[in-house]
Amino acid sequence: MKLCMIGTGYVGLVSGVCFADLGNDVICVDNNLNKIKLLRKGKIPIYEPGLSELVVKNFKNKRLEFSTDLKKSVKNSDIIFICVGTPTTRGGSSADLSQVYKVAKEISYSINKFKIIITKSTVPVTTGDEIEKILSKNNNKKKFSVVSNPEFLREGEAIRDFIYPDRVVIGTSDKKTGRILKNLYNPLISKGASYLQTSRRAAELIKYASNAFLATKITFINEIANLCEKTGINVEDISIGMGLDKRIGSRFLRAGPAYGGSCFPKDTKAIISTADKFKTNLSVIKSVIKSNENRSKILLQRVYQILKRKIRNKKITFLGVTFKANTDDMRDSSSLKMIPWLSKKGAIIKYFDPTGYKNEFSKLKNVTNKTTIKEAVQGSDLVIIHTEWNDFKSINFKNLVKGKKFIIFDMRNIYSSTKVKDQGLKYYSVGK
Ligand code: UGA
Repeated sequence: MKLCMIGTGYVGLVSGVCFADLGNDVICVDNNLNKIKLLRKGKIPIYEPGLSELVVKNFKNKRLEFSTDLKKSVKNSDIIFICVGTPTTRGGSSADLSQVYKVAKEISYSINKFKIIITKSTVPVTTGDEIEKILSKNNNKKKFSVVSNPEFLREGEAIRDFIYPDRVVIGTSDKKTGRILKNLYNPLISKGASYLQTSRRAAELIKYASNAFLATKITFINEIANLCEKTGINVEDISIGMGLDKRIGSRFLRAGPAYGGSCFPKDTKAIISTADKFKTNLSVIKSVIKSNENRSKILLQRVYQILKRKIRNKKITFLGVTFKANTDDMRDSSSLKMIPWLSKKGAIIKYFDPTGYKNEFSKLKNVTNKTTIKEAVQGSDLVIIHTEWNDFKSINFKNLVKGKKFIIFDMRNIYSSTKVKDQGLKYYSVGK
Protein backbone atom coordinates (compact mmCIF):
# COMPACT_ATOMS: atom_id res chain seq x y z
CA MET A 1 0.00 0.00 0.00
CA LYS A 2 1.21 3.52 -0.73
CA LEU A 3 0.56 5.72 2.24
CA CYS A 4 0.85 9.45 2.70
CA MET A 5 1.05 11.01 6.16
CA ILE A 6 0.36 14.74 6.19
CA GLY A 7 1.97 16.35 9.25
CA THR A 8 5.11 15.01 10.87
CA GLY A 9 4.26 15.65 14.52
CA TYR A 10 3.97 12.82 17.05
CA VAL A 11 1.06 11.07 15.41
CA GLY A 12 2.09 11.48 11.76
CA LEU A 13 5.76 10.69 12.19
CA VAL A 14 5.37 7.73 14.54
CA SER A 15 2.50 6.19 12.54
CA GLY A 16 4.29 6.79 9.23
CA VAL A 17 7.54 5.23 10.40
CA CYS A 18 5.76 2.25 11.96
CA PHE A 19 3.64 1.66 8.84
CA ALA A 20 6.85 1.71 6.78
CA ASP A 21 8.39 -0.79 9.17
CA LEU A 22 5.38 -3.05 8.55
CA GLY A 23 6.30 -3.10 4.84
CA ASN A 24 4.29 -0.22 3.34
CA ASP A 25 5.65 2.57 1.15
CA VAL A 26 5.19 5.73 3.15
CA ILE A 27 5.69 9.36 2.30
CA CYS A 28 5.60 11.82 5.20
CA VAL A 29 4.69 15.35 4.19
CA ASP A 30 5.21 18.56 6.11
CA ASN A 31 5.15 22.21 5.04
CA ASN A 32 8.19 22.90 7.23
CA LEU A 33 11.12 22.48 4.84
CA ASN A 34 13.68 22.60 7.61
CA LYS A 35 12.00 19.72 9.43
CA ILE A 36 11.88 17.65 6.23
CA LYS A 37 15.59 18.31 5.55
CA LEU A 38 16.47 17.20 9.08
CA LEU A 39 14.32 14.07 8.82
CA ARG A 40 16.05 13.13 5.57
CA LYS A 41 19.32 13.26 7.52
CA GLY A 42 17.82 11.01 10.19
CA LYS A 43 17.44 13.87 12.68
CA ILE A 44 14.24 13.69 14.69
CA PRO A 45 12.51 16.90 15.79
CA ILE A 46 10.98 15.26 18.90
CA TYR A 47 12.31 13.14 21.75
CA GLU A 48 10.77 9.70 21.41
CA PRO A 49 12.68 6.55 22.44
CA GLY A 50 13.41 4.23 19.50
CA LEU A 51 12.02 6.54 16.81
CA SER A 52 15.30 7.71 15.37
CA GLU A 53 16.52 4.14 14.74
CA LEU A 54 13.31 3.26 12.89
CA VAL A 55 13.45 6.42 10.77
CA VAL A 56 17.02 5.75 9.71
CA LYS A 57 16.35 2.05 9.00
CA ASN A 58 13.25 2.63 6.86
CA PHE A 59 14.65 5.69 5.08
CA LYS A 60 17.73 3.66 4.10
CA ASN A 61 15.68 0.78 2.73
CA LYS A 62 13.56 3.30 0.79
CA ARG A 63 10.20 2.46 2.31
CA LEU A 64 10.09 5.89 3.93
CA GLU A 65 10.30 9.25 2.18
CA PHE A 66 9.96 12.84 3.32
CA SER A 67 8.55 15.67 1.22
CA THR A 68 7.07 19.15 1.29
CA ASP A 69 5.12 18.52 -1.93
CA LEU A 70 1.64 17.68 -0.68
CA LYS A 71 -0.09 17.50 -4.05
CA LYS A 72 2.44 15.18 -5.68
CA SER A 73 2.57 12.96 -2.58
CA VAL A 74 -1.23 12.66 -2.47
CA LYS A 75 -1.38 11.83 -6.17
CA ASN A 76 1.13 9.00 -5.69
CA SER A 77 -0.66 7.46 -2.70
CA ASP A 78 -3.68 5.22 -2.07
CA ILE A 79 -4.35 6.15 1.54
CA ILE A 80 -3.86 9.64 2.95
CA PHE A 81 -3.67 10.23 6.70
CA ILE A 82 -4.34 13.74 7.95
CA CYS A 83 -2.11 14.10 11.01
CA VAL A 84 -1.84 17.86 11.47
CA GLY A 85 -2.35 19.58 14.81
CA THR A 86 -5.75 20.38 16.30
CA PRO A 87 -4.75 22.70 19.17
CA THR A 88 -7.19 24.60 21.33
CA THR A 89 -8.40 27.75 19.58
CA ARG A 90 -6.77 30.93 20.85
CA GLY A 91 -8.80 32.27 23.75
CA GLY A 92 -11.38 29.50 23.33
CA SER A 93 -11.88 25.86 24.23
CA SER A 94 -12.84 24.18 20.95
CA ALA A 95 -10.36 22.42 18.66
CA ASP A 96 -8.84 24.64 15.99
CA LEU A 97 -9.51 22.77 12.75
CA SER A 98 -8.03 25.32 10.35
CA GLN A 99 -5.01 23.13 9.50
CA VAL A 100 -7.22 20.07 8.92
CA TYR A 101 -9.52 21.94 6.54
CA LYS A 102 -6.62 23.61 4.73
CA VAL A 103 -5.07 20.20 4.10
CA ALA A 104 -8.45 18.77 3.00
CA LYS A 105 -8.76 21.57 0.45
CA GLU A 106 -5.28 20.88 -0.91
CA ILE A 107 -6.04 17.16 -1.12
CA SER A 108 -9.22 17.95 -3.06
CA TYR A 109 -7.08 19.20 -6.00
CA SER A 110 -5.03 16.00 -6.17
CA ILE A 111 -7.54 13.16 -6.30
CA ASN A 112 -6.49 11.43 -9.53
CA LYS A 113 -7.85 7.95 -8.59
CA PHE A 114 -9.83 6.39 -5.71
CA LYS A 115 -8.33 7.50 -2.40
CA ILE A 116 -9.05 6.84 1.23
CA ILE A 117 -8.69 10.03 3.27
CA ILE A 118 -8.26 9.38 6.98
CA THR A 119 -8.27 11.70 9.97
CA LYS A 120 -5.73 10.41 12.47
CA SER A 121 -5.52 13.77 14.20
CA THR A 122 -7.95 14.07 17.11
CA VAL A 123 -10.96 15.77 15.53
CA PRO A 124 -14.40 16.59 16.94
CA VAL A 125 -17.54 14.76 15.90
CA THR A 126 -18.73 15.85 12.42
CA THR A 127 -15.25 16.88 11.20
CA GLY A 128 -15.32 13.95 8.74
CA ASP A 129 -18.63 15.25 7.38
CA GLU A 130 -17.02 18.66 6.76
CA ILE A 131 -13.99 17.12 5.07
CA GLU A 132 -16.34 15.16 2.80
CA LYS A 133 -18.05 18.43 1.82
CA ILE A 134 -14.70 20.08 1.03
CA LEU A 135 -13.56 17.15 -1.12
CA SER A 136 -16.93 16.97 -2.92
CA LYS A 137 -16.49 20.49 -4.26
CA ASN A 138 -13.86 19.33 -6.76
CA ASN A 139 -14.49 15.59 -6.92
CA ASN A 140 -17.11 12.95 -7.56
CA LYS A 141 -18.01 11.21 -4.27
CA LYS A 142 -17.11 7.82 -5.79
CA LYS A 143 -13.46 8.94 -6.04
CA PHE A 144 -12.84 9.08 -2.29
CA SER A 145 -13.84 7.78 1.10
CA VAL A 146 -13.41 9.81 4.30
CA VAL A 147 -12.62 7.76 7.41
CA SER A 148 -11.91 8.43 11.07
CA ASN A 149 -9.09 6.29 12.46
CA PRO A 150 -8.07 7.78 15.81
CA GLU A 151 -4.63 7.12 17.27
CA PHE A 152 -4.24 6.09 20.90
CA LEU A 153 -0.48 6.24 21.30
CA ARG A 154 1.19 7.90 24.29
CA GLU A 155 4.23 10.13 24.08
CA GLY A 156 7.30 8.31 25.33
CA GLU A 157 5.70 4.91 24.59
CA ALA A 158 4.57 5.78 21.08
CA ILE A 159 6.23 3.00 19.09
CA ARG A 160 5.16 0.22 21.42
CA ASP A 161 1.64 1.68 21.57
CA PHE A 162 1.48 1.76 17.77
CA ILE A 163 2.72 -1.78 17.27
CA TYR A 164 0.79 -3.34 20.16
CA PRO A 165 -2.40 -1.30 20.43
CA ASP A 166 -5.35 -2.52 22.51
CA ARG A 167 -7.61 -1.71 19.60
CA VAL A 168 -7.77 -0.36 16.07
CA VAL A 169 -10.84 1.78 15.49
CA ILE A 170 -12.02 2.42 11.94
CA GLY A 171 -14.93 4.79 11.42
CA THR A 172 -16.49 4.12 8.02
CA SER A 173 -19.71 2.71 6.69
CA ASP A 174 -18.12 1.84 3.35
CA LYS A 175 -17.47 -1.91 3.10
CA LYS A 176 -14.64 -1.73 0.55
CA THR A 177 -12.81 0.91 2.60
CA GLY A 178 -13.30 -1.16 5.77
CA ARG A 179 -11.76 -4.20 4.02
CA ILE A 180 -8.74 -2.25 2.77
CA LEU A 181 -8.05 -0.76 6.19
CA LYS A 182 -8.51 -4.02 8.04
CA ASN A 183 -5.94 -5.46 5.68
CA LEU A 184 -3.56 -2.54 6.32
CA TYR A 185 -3.80 -3.13 10.07
CA ASN A 186 -3.75 -6.92 9.80
CA PRO A 187 -0.15 -7.26 11.12
CA LEU A 188 -1.32 -5.61 14.36
CA ILE A 189 -4.66 -7.43 14.52
CA SER A 190 -2.95 -10.78 14.05
CA LYS A 191 -0.76 -9.97 17.06
CA GLY A 192 -3.81 -9.48 19.27
CA ALA A 193 -5.19 -5.97 18.70
CA SER A 194 -8.99 -5.81 18.68
CA TYR A 195 -10.50 -4.40 15.50
CA LEU A 196 -13.62 -2.27 15.72
CA GLN A 197 -15.44 -0.83 12.74
CA THR A 198 -18.00 1.86 13.61
CA SER A 199 -19.66 4.87 12.07
CA ARG A 200 -17.29 7.73 11.35
CA ARG A 201 -18.85 9.96 13.99
CA ALA A 202 -18.58 7.20 16.61
CA ALA A 203 -14.87 6.76 15.90
CA GLU A 204 -14.35 10.51 16.31
CA LEU A 205 -16.11 10.44 19.66
CA ILE A 206 -14.38 7.25 20.89
CA LYS A 207 -11.10 9.16 20.87
CA TYR A 208 -12.38 12.11 22.89
CA ALA A 209 -14.40 9.95 25.27
CA SER A 210 -11.35 7.74 25.92
CA ASN A 211 -9.06 10.65 26.73
CA ALA A 212 -11.73 12.31 28.88
CA PHE A 213 -12.30 9.04 30.75
CA LEU A 214 -8.58 8.53 31.42
CA ALA A 215 -8.32 12.13 32.61
CA THR A 216 -11.29 11.45 34.90
CA LYS A 217 -9.59 8.36 36.37
CA ILE A 218 -6.45 10.33 37.17
CA THR A 219 -8.38 13.23 38.65
CA PHE A 220 -10.48 10.84 40.68
CA ILE A 221 -7.46 9.19 42.29
CA ASN A 222 -5.83 12.59 42.86
CA GLU A 223 -8.88 13.68 44.87
CA ILE A 224 -8.90 10.39 46.78
CA ALA A 225 -5.19 11.04 47.48
CA ASN A 226 -6.18 14.31 49.17
CA LEU A 227 -8.52 12.38 51.43
CA CYS A 228 -5.83 9.76 52.13
CA GLU A 229 -3.45 12.47 53.30
CA LYS A 230 -6.01 13.62 55.86
CA THR A 231 -6.88 10.13 57.09
CA GLY A 232 -3.47 8.47 57.29
CA ILE A 233 -4.16 6.05 54.44
CA ASN A 234 -1.73 5.14 51.65
CA VAL A 235 -3.36 6.00 48.30
CA GLU A 236 -1.35 3.25 46.61
CA ASP A 237 -3.30 0.69 48.64
CA ILE A 238 -6.48 2.28 47.33
CA SER A 239 -5.26 2.17 43.71
CA ILE A 240 -4.33 -1.49 44.07
CA GLY A 241 -7.55 -2.36 45.88
CA MET A 242 -9.70 -0.59 43.31
CA GLY A 243 -7.67 -1.77 40.35
CA LEU A 244 -8.08 -5.43 41.24
CA ASP A 245 -11.75 -5.05 40.33
CA LYS A 246 -11.66 -5.90 36.63
CA ARG A 247 -14.47 -3.44 35.98
CA ILE A 248 -12.17 -0.65 37.17
CA GLY A 249 -8.65 -1.79 36.17
CA SER A 250 -5.40 -0.63 37.75
CA ARG A 251 -3.96 1.58 35.01
CA PHE A 252 -4.15 5.38 35.15
CA LEU A 253 -4.83 5.28 38.86
CA ARG A 254 -1.47 6.74 39.87
CA ALA A 255 -1.87 9.85 42.00
CA GLY A 256 0.51 12.72 41.31
CA PRO A 257 0.64 16.24 39.90
CA ALA A 258 -2.07 17.58 37.60
CA TYR A 259 -2.31 15.65 34.34
CA GLY A 260 -0.69 17.56 31.49
CA GLY A 261 0.58 17.09 27.97
CA SER A 262 -0.73 17.97 24.57
CA CYS A 263 -3.84 15.78 24.76
CA PHE A 264 -5.83 15.47 28.00
CA PRO A 265 -6.08 19.22 28.76
CA LYS A 266 -6.91 20.07 25.13
CA ASP A 267 -9.29 17.18 24.48
CA THR A 268 -11.31 17.51 27.70
CA LYS A 269 -11.98 21.14 26.79
CA ALA A 270 -12.80 20.31 23.17
CA ILE A 271 -15.32 17.57 24.01
CA ILE A 272 -17.18 20.05 26.25
CA SER A 273 -17.18 22.53 23.42
CA THR A 274 -18.63 19.91 21.04
CA ALA A 275 -21.25 18.93 23.61
CA ASP A 276 -22.21 22.60 24.05
CA LYS A 277 -22.74 22.80 20.30
CA PHE A 278 -25.18 19.91 20.59
CA LYS A 279 -26.75 21.37 23.76
CA THR A 280 -25.51 18.57 26.02
CA ASN A 281 -24.07 19.14 29.48
CA LEU A 282 -20.96 17.02 30.20
CA SER A 283 -20.90 17.95 33.87
CA VAL A 284 -18.49 15.18 34.95
CA ILE A 285 -15.81 16.27 32.48
CA LYS A 286 -16.36 19.91 33.44
CA SER A 287 -15.57 19.12 37.07
CA VAL A 288 -12.55 17.05 36.04
CA ILE A 289 -11.10 20.08 34.26
CA LYS A 290 -11.78 22.28 37.28
CA SER A 291 -10.30 19.78 39.72
CA ASN A 292 -7.19 19.31 37.58
CA GLU A 293 -6.71 23.07 37.30
CA ASN A 294 -6.79 23.22 41.07
CA ARG A 295 -4.32 20.37 41.51
CA SER A 296 -1.14 22.45 41.24
CA LYS A 297 -2.47 24.86 43.87
CA ILE A 298 -3.03 21.95 46.26
CA LEU A 299 0.51 20.63 45.75
CA LEU A 300 1.98 24.12 46.11
CA GLN A 301 0.05 24.50 49.33
CA ARG A 302 1.80 21.37 50.56
CA VAL A 303 5.18 22.80 49.56
CA TYR A 304 4.26 25.87 51.58
CA GLN A 305 3.47 23.72 54.62
CA ILE A 306 6.56 21.51 54.21
CA LEU A 307 8.72 24.65 54.19
CA LYS A 308 6.89 25.94 57.26
CA ARG A 309 5.37 28.86 55.34
CA LYS A 310 8.79 30.29 54.47
CA ILE A 311 9.49 30.20 50.75
CA ARG A 312 11.58 33.34 50.28
CA ASN A 313 15.27 32.45 49.72
CA LYS A 314 14.57 28.73 50.08
CA LYS A 315 16.60 26.63 47.66
CA ILE A 316 14.25 24.34 45.78
CA THR A 317 15.27 21.68 43.24
CA PHE A 318 12.97 20.24 40.60
CA LEU A 319 13.95 16.79 39.34
CA GLY A 320 12.13 16.56 36.03
CA VAL A 321 10.01 19.32 34.55
CA THR A 322 8.34 17.64 31.56
CA PHE A 323 4.69 16.58 31.90
CA LYS A 324 5.73 12.92 32.06
CA ALA A 325 8.82 10.78 31.60
CA ASN A 326 10.40 9.83 28.26
CA THR A 327 9.36 13.00 26.49
CA ASP A 328 10.79 16.49 26.10
CA ASP A 329 7.26 17.87 25.86
CA MET A 330 6.50 20.73 28.23
CA ARG A 331 2.95 21.39 27.05
CA ASP A 332 0.64 21.89 30.02
CA SER A 333 3.22 20.41 32.38
CA SER A 334 2.34 21.26 35.97
CA SER A 335 5.92 22.53 36.43
CA LEU A 336 4.85 25.50 34.30
CA LYS A 337 2.51 26.54 37.09
CA MET A 338 4.64 25.53 40.06
CA ILE A 339 8.05 26.97 39.14
CA PRO A 340 6.79 30.49 38.26
CA TRP A 341 4.69 30.61 41.45
CA LEU A 342 7.62 29.58 43.65
CA SER A 343 9.99 31.96 41.84
CA LYS A 344 7.53 34.82 42.41
CA LYS A 345 7.43 33.96 46.09
CA GLY A 346 11.22 34.39 46.24
CA ALA A 347 12.46 30.79 46.04
CA ILE A 348 15.81 30.03 44.38
CA ILE A 349 15.14 27.23 41.95
CA LYS A 350 17.42 24.77 40.19
CA TYR A 351 16.05 22.13 37.88
CA PHE A 352 17.41 19.08 36.13
CA ASP A 353 15.59 17.27 33.37
CA PRO A 354 17.11 14.47 31.24
CA THR A 355 15.91 16.39 28.17
CA GLY A 356 17.86 19.47 29.21
CA TYR A 357 17.31 23.21 29.31
CA LYS A 358 13.79 24.59 28.95
CA ASN A 359 13.11 27.93 27.31
CA GLU A 360 9.87 28.19 29.23
CA PHE A 361 11.78 29.22 32.39
CA SER A 362 14.36 31.46 30.73
CA LYS A 363 12.73 34.73 31.81
CA LEU A 364 12.06 33.72 35.41
CA LYS A 365 14.06 35.20 38.24
CA ASN A 366 16.33 32.80 40.13
CA VAL A 367 15.56 29.75 38.03
CA THR A 368 18.55 27.87 36.64
CA ASN A 369 19.08 24.67 34.75
CA LYS A 370 21.67 22.14 35.93
CA THR A 371 23.11 19.40 33.81
CA THR A 372 23.52 16.75 36.49
CA ILE A 373 21.31 15.53 39.33
CA LYS A 374 24.13 16.16 41.77
CA GLU A 375 24.56 19.81 40.81
CA ALA A 376 20.82 20.33 40.96
CA VAL A 377 20.48 18.81 44.40
CA GLN A 378 23.60 20.33 45.99
CA GLY A 379 22.79 22.91 48.65
CA SER A 380 19.06 22.41 48.29
CA ASP A 381 16.51 22.80 51.10
CA LEU A 382 13.77 20.94 49.24
CA VAL A 383 14.02 18.48 46.36
CA ILE A 384 10.79 18.02 44.41
CA ILE A 385 10.58 14.89 42.26
CA HIS A 386 8.20 16.20 39.64
CA THR A 387 8.57 13.73 36.76
CA GLU A 388 8.96 9.96 37.04
CA TRP A 389 12.09 9.57 34.87
CA ASN A 390 13.99 6.32 35.46
CA ASP A 391 17.05 8.49 36.19
CA PHE A 392 15.42 9.48 39.50
CA LYS A 393 14.29 6.05 40.64
CA SER A 394 17.35 4.86 42.49
CA ILE A 395 19.24 7.89 43.67
CA ASN A 396 21.23 7.37 46.85
CA PHE A 397 20.57 10.85 48.21
CA LYS A 398 22.77 10.34 51.24
CA ASN A 399 25.84 9.54 49.12
CA LEU A 400 25.00 12.09 46.46
CA VAL A 401 25.21 15.11 48.70
CA LYS A 402 27.16 14.43 51.86
CA GLY A 403 26.45 16.50 54.95
CA LYS A 404 23.48 18.55 53.76
CA LYS A 405 20.09 17.37 54.91
CA PHE A 406 17.38 18.35 52.52
CA ILE A 407 13.70 17.48 52.42
CA ILE A 408 12.29 15.41 49.59
CA PHE A 409 8.79 15.92 48.20
CA ASP A 410 8.19 12.98 45.88
CA MET A 411 5.18 14.00 43.77
CA ARG A 412 5.29 10.70 41.85
CA ASN A 413 5.57 8.32 44.81
CA ILE A 414 8.73 6.75 43.39
CA TYR A 415 10.40 5.98 46.72
CA SER A 416 9.46 4.03 49.78
CA SER A 417 9.23 6.47 52.66
CA THR A 418 10.98 4.15 55.14
CA LYS A 419 14.01 3.72 52.86
CA VAL A 420 14.46 7.47 52.39
CA LYS A 421 13.88 8.17 56.06
CA ASP A 422 16.55 5.55 56.84
CA GLN A 423 18.99 7.80 54.93
CA GLY A 424 18.20 10.47 57.51
CA LEU A 425 16.16 12.63 55.15
CA LYS A 426 12.69 14.04 55.62
CA TYR A 427 10.39 12.60 53.01
CA TYR A 428 6.92 13.58 51.81
CA SER A 429 4.91 11.96 49.04
CA VAL A 430 1.41 12.19 47.57
CA GLY A 431 -1.69 10.64 49.11
CA LYS A 432 0.06 9.21 52.16
C1 UGA B 1 -2.67 10.40 26.07
C2 UGA B 1 -3.40 9.06 26.02
O1 UGA B 1 -2.93 8.21 27.08
C3 UGA B 1 -3.18 8.34 24.69
O2 UGA B 1 -3.94 7.16 24.64
C4 UGA B 1 -3.62 9.29 23.57
O3 UGA B 1 -3.38 8.71 22.30
C5 UGA B 1 -2.85 10.59 23.66
O4 UGA B 1 -3.10 11.18 24.96
C6 UGA B 1 -3.34 11.49 22.55
O5 UGA B 1 -4.53 11.87 22.56
O6 UGA B 1 -2.59 11.72 21.58
P1 UGA B 1 -0.15 11.21 26.52
O7 UGA B 1 -0.76 12.57 26.68
O8 UGA B 1 1.02 11.05 25.62
O9 UGA B 1 -1.27 10.17 26.00
O10 UGA B 1 0.33 10.70 27.95
P2 UGA B 1 -0.27 9.83 29.14
O11 UGA B 1 0.67 8.74 29.43
O12 UGA B 1 -1.66 9.47 28.91
O13 UGA B 1 -0.20 10.88 30.35
C7 UGA B 1 -1.01 12.04 30.39
C8 UGA B 1 -0.92 12.70 31.75
O14 UGA B 1 -1.53 11.89 32.74
C9 UGA B 1 0.52 12.92 32.24
O15 UGA B 1 0.60 14.19 32.86
C10 UGA B 1 0.75 11.80 33.25
O16 UGA B 1 1.70 12.09 34.21
C11 UGA B 1 -0.66 11.70 33.85
N1 UGA B 1 -0.95 10.41 34.50
C12 UGA B 1 -1.07 9.29 33.77
C13 UGA B 1 -1.12 10.37 35.88
O17 UGA B 1 -1.02 11.40 36.57
N2 UGA B 1 -1.44 9.20 36.48
C14 UGA B 1 -1.57 8.06 35.77
O18 UGA B 1 -1.86 7.01 36.38
C15 UGA B 1 -1.38 8.10 34.39
